[in-house]
Amino acid sequence: MSSRDQVLVAGSANIDVVLQVPRTPHQGESLVAAGQRTGLGGKGSNRAIALQRLGLDVQFCCKLGQDSSGDLVFSKLQAEGIGTRLVKRDEHVGTGTAYIMVEPSGKNTILSYLGANNAFTKTDINEIVDQLPSFSFLSLELECSLSLIEQLLYHGRKQEKVIIVDAGPVRGIELSEFRDVDVFSPNETEAAQWTGFAVDTEAAAREACRYLYEATGSKRVLLKRGEHGAMLYDGQDIRNFPTYREAGQVVDTTAAGDCFMGALTLGMARKMPLDQAIYYANVAAAIAVTRSGAATSLPTGAEADEMFTKACEGGYVK
Ligand code: RIB
Repeated sequence: MSSRDQVLVAGSANIDVVLQVPRTPHQGESLVAAGQRTGLGGKGSNRAIALQRLGLDVQFCCKLGQDSSGDLVFSKLQAEGIGTRLVKRDEHVGTGTAYIMVEPSGKNTILSYLGANNAFTKTDINEIVDQLPSFSFLSLELECSLSLIEQLLYHGRKQEKVIIVDAGPVRGIELSEFRDVDVFSPNETEAAQWTGFAVDTEAAAREACRYLYEATGSKRVLLKRGEHGAMLYDGQDIRNFPTYREAGQVVDTTAAGDCFMGALTLGMARKMPLDQAIYYANVAAAIAVTRSGAATSLPTGAEADEMFTKACEGGYVK
């Protein structure tokens, strides 16, 4: 088995239209953006690029339109060295686009047009599922056809894959679909949507972890808490992994969660103890937030390893 066949990343690939805004506009308000740029994004693509740059060959399964945006995304994925044999194209639906507002604090708000990401056919899904035996790890999220994710969860579980789920965006899929997954990982906003209560304090975060652990039947819930780091619950203990703050100033948090998930998967695939993999993921994400954009912000293995060594020497890793 080649190392590329170890990890299958499934999810979205988008063109991101990024607007620098003074703040998120109120309903009915017209606001002027200070800048606009486009780039490669999508939660799946960001995770695949994160993993590949950090040093693990991956196959990425996504669906692009048969359009110039799709051609651009495809060529960029290939330029990164990502395996593209499971990338599908759609003749009728365009490549996904995400509209992202980034505030001066680096915080962002995202509106996605799923487009081809949501157009996986039964034939596509069967072709992808047929390839599953060659992978050990599945890295999933919900910004694509949910029928694909449901099938990957079902067959991945049957084939005893290690399954890591970025639990966003929150869409019409039952929490019980995630039973037995190794890691179920929402951010605080997603956790609030999944649970129905605000997740804005440490106590609420603990309650959300417990709720989602029970409701999903997953092996672990790993809550991404932004500036508060990550919280892990495995049915017994709750542990906090504080944000690493020595990487530099926060410029743009877009794709930080995707970078975290990619680095976590890399750590697990390299058989790091889980707590080390979470610290490593925090360090990689801390680098990503110092840079603008999605794909453009993701660090290389050399960058993440160097910062992780510094973090270990500085006593960050317990
Ligand atoms: O997680 C960040 C990503 O979410 C962006 O790149 C955008 O494409 C949306 O999918």
